[in-house]
Amino acid sequence: MEISIELKINGRIHQLHAAANRTLLEVLRETVGLTGTKKGCGTGECGACTVLLDGVPVNSCLVLALDARGKEITTIEGLAVNGVLHPLQKAFAEHGATQCGFCTPGMILSGKALLDRNPKPTEMEVRQVLSGNLCRCTGYLKPVEAILAVSRSERDTLSTAKEASNLER
Ligand code: FES
Ligand code: FES
Repeated sequence: MEISIELKINGRIHQLHAAANRTLLEVLRETVGLTGTKKGCGTGECGACTVLLDGVPVNSCLVLALDARGKEITTIEGLAVNGVLHPLQKAFAEHGATQCGFCTPGMILSGKALLDRNPKPTEMEVRQVLSGNLCRCTGYLKPVEAILAVSRSERDTLSTAKEASNLER
């Protein structure tokens, strides 16, 4: 039996009908049509289905869509603004951190959650965060480099802005 579910996805409210046992992953891909979130294992092992719930990365194959009600759901489609890629999306492309791309949405969302709560992570912290996102092509070095590059460039931007405001005083 289908029930109605209201979900807030990438800032937009969706009124949906789905069976109560549907996972968030299934609803995102099959009901809403957001296929950027990938299904790998379906059992919480690979991280391909990672989305953010209130900023926290979760395996959407293990979350019932019903349990995501009232939360901010962020998928990879929610990162670019007006066609401009998020810095992490750019960095993954520039650092060759993506090949087949299957793991990439999950890795980028895990990286985003990390940088949002800790803008200056160590390499070890980045590696730990990516430990739940399996990649069969690129390996982990380039994704780690991409996330660290964004962290460094955001710090540079912040310190340049700070120096400019000090000069203006
Ligand atoms: S598909 Fe969800 S963890 Fe693999
Ligand atoms: S780029 Fe293919 S699985 Fe990671």
